[in-house]
Amino acid sequence: MRIGILTVSDRASRGEYADKGGPAIVEFLREALSCEWEPRALVIPDEQDQIESTLKALCDDEGCCLVVTTGGTGPAKRDVTPEATEAVCEKLLPGFGELMRAVSLRSVPTAILSRQTAGVRGKSLIVNLPGKPTAIRECLLAVMPAIPYCIDLIGGPSLTTNEAVVKAFRPKT
Ligand code: MTE
Repeated sequence: MRIGILTVSDRASRGEYADKGGPAIVEFLREALSCEWEPRALVIPDEQDQIESTLKALCDDEGCCLVVTTGGTGPAKRDVTPEATEAVCEKLLPGFGELMRAVSLRSVPTAILSRQTAGVRGKSLIVNLPGKPTAIRECLLAVMPAIPYCIDLIGGPSLTTNEAVVKAFRPKT
């Protein structure tokens, strides 16, 4: 089971600072998931074409059931991660962004500046997170309970979680 972790940052991609977001996502997922999985982690600049082609490669070629992005969700000119996500997804899941902004608002009033979203491409779920490493745990803790069932519904593998960290919710059928 592969999970894509995509850091979108001009400066991190140029090596001007170390990528903290990608490692924070890996650390959270290592704690939260009890199944075997391997990360496919990449750092790329805020270029919409490049974000789109990398998302497609992670979903279609690498077969990642989940791709988590960090960065590029704000209102600045070069912030285009949500546009790239929307362009490659067949279905959008706006509830992810709504919940993550609501949870983040408890910590920072600027949470409303993030346009983070989520969507489905084939059998892959793509979820955007803001670039601040502190946002990563907060946002993932909020949406993670619904992610395994979402991946079931789109025909992906069955994710299991460490219940002490995240309790996956699957409605009884
Ligand atoms: N969400 C959380 N949980 N914590 C944060 O510090 N920062 C906000 C917002 N969401 C923040 C957050 C700010 S200041 C911005 S500009 C937007 O996310 C977009 O960030 P990004 O462009 O790095 O994705």
